[in-house]
Amino acid sequence: KKVVFSGVQPSGGLTIGNYIGAIKNWLSLQDDYDCYYSIVDLHAITVPQVPKDLRKNTLEVLAIYLACGLDPEKSTIFIQSHVPAHAELAWVLNTISYMGQLSRMTQYKEKSKKSEENLNAGLFTYPVLMAADILLYQTDLVPVGEDQKQHIELARDLAERFNNRYSPTFKVPEPLIKKEGARIMSLQDPESKMSKSDENENGYILILDKPDVIRRKIKRAVTDSIGEVKYNDEQLGIKNLITIYSVFSGDSIKDVENRYEGIGYGKFKEDLAEVIIEGLRPIQKKYEDLMNNKEFLEKIYREGAERASLVANKTLRKVYKKVGFI
Ligand code: AQP
Repeated sequence: KKVVFSGVQPSGGLTIGNYIGAIKNWLSLQDDYDCYYSIVDLHAITVPQVPKDLRKNTLEVLAIYLACGLDPEKSTIFIQSHVPAHAELAWVLNTISYMGQLSRMTQYKEKSKKSEENLNAGLFTYPVLMAADILLYQTDLVPVGEDQKQHIELARDLAERFNNRYSPTFKVPEPLIKKEGARIMSLQDPESKMSKSDENENGYILILDKPDVIRRKIKRAVTDSIGEVKYNDEQLGIKNLITIYSVFSGDSIKDVENRYEGIGYGKFKEDLAEVIIEGLRPIQKKYEDLMNNKEFLEKIYREGAERASLVANKTLRKVYKKVGFI
């Protein structure tokens, strides 16, 4: 079986961007691939986290994974820091990473602009840790949103560089990016992506947002004065809302356009809110049940870490041997 790896940072509540761009696409891969889905807490601390919130968020992300339909019987679901091989391989990969290449990473450039007072080395080597995540499992495919494409490219470079310098060790991974919904945009600024760390909470919808909150945020979503529900680049706000509608309803973009021809934004937004609410309802219900069963969650992440460690340690041992560690 081919191998799939992906993860989300427990750096706050997950947004419908995380759901549409990542988690939703992971579900269908579970039957045909050997899947590893991680909660990447080592990545999360590259921006300041309140320890007790991080603990809470990590468990919440696990419950959301399961509530969305990830199945621990089929996939290996684990917390990154429980498998020390991630940090260990990242160190080795750091030593073959070029400063120049890392400084050209878009996410680093954006995040460093935002957090000048916390320009830590972890933020800079974030993509190297991500490469380690992926390469440890001899991953074939990495299902991610568009924003992660450059990081996968780096993981490929590092795999090839290591393989050339020593001998074939790592599988060279491919990104798997769904065209539609690969980049869900902020509801307040349709030119930047929806992000859970956005200071303006009207910019995103969380998977766990209550119906009233969803209605309010959609109502306030930025549109335009054109007044037509049309999917095009002149109307980025509406384009984004149509995408979200289409993903949650299962209707094609064309169907959505046709349905709202000649009908104003007000009605479209009202319906969109309901479509999202209905789509999230079963997930939220399952989530509540899971959060009432902490022992079960604990069992899942323990077993996941065990399974992941077996594979990860095997790769790490090979790497240590090749670089010359006794
Ligand atoms: N807006 C988005 N549209 C589509 N996919 C998205 N992803 C994130 N935002 C969108 C995908 O979600 C996965 C996990 O992302 P992450 O938590 O590791 O970090 P991120 O990409 O930096 O996501 P956020 O929400 O913007 O987090 P913060 O604000 O903490 O940095 C990835 O597959 C990503 O592509």
